[in-house]
Amino acid sequence: AAELTLAIVKPDGISGNHTNSIKNIILQSGFTIHTQATLHLHQHTVTAFYAEHSTKTFFPSLVKYMTSGPVLIMVLEKVNAIADWRTLIGPTDARKAKITHPDSIRAMCGEDLERNCVHGSDSHESAAREISFFFPDSLSVFMLLLS
Ligand code: CMP
Repeated sequence: AAELTLAIVKPDGISGNHTNSIKNIILQSGFTIHTQATLHLHQHTVTAFYAEHSTKTFFPSLVKYMTSGPVLIMVLEKVNAIADWRTLIGPTDARKAKITHPDSIRAMCGEDLERNCVHGSDSHESAAREISFFFPDSLSVFMLLLS
């Protein structure tokens, strides 16, 4: 069945001019870009979005990174979108991705474990939460696709 997932081109992806290449990969891989918005996130927004990481030592650095410039937030639609987008972006640690998944998006534009240039929802639950976090109107579409 068709699914929606949340994709983010992080500040390093935008400032490194990787947006067009990333969008080309998305479209060539059969996704449709259902919704998109370019936003400069506030620290409170990043804190709420990444609430599950709020107790981690890397959290202050993550907030600084994610507020350092604009991000492109997209809702992607495709059969098996959640797992397929995670496969396309590759491992969280871009340094490892360059070795183990050289064709992945993070290998192409990421730098390390933190500066990994893109985000993808890791489960159906995360996708539903993350999509409705940024695009409350998309949630009804998400529920329809699941039904
Ligand atoms: P993302 O997949 O968006 O989910 C949380 C983000 O936190 C992750 O990508 C990285 O940008 C960052 N991150 C995860 N683990 C670490 C870590 N150990 N050290 C620094 N940053 C991390």
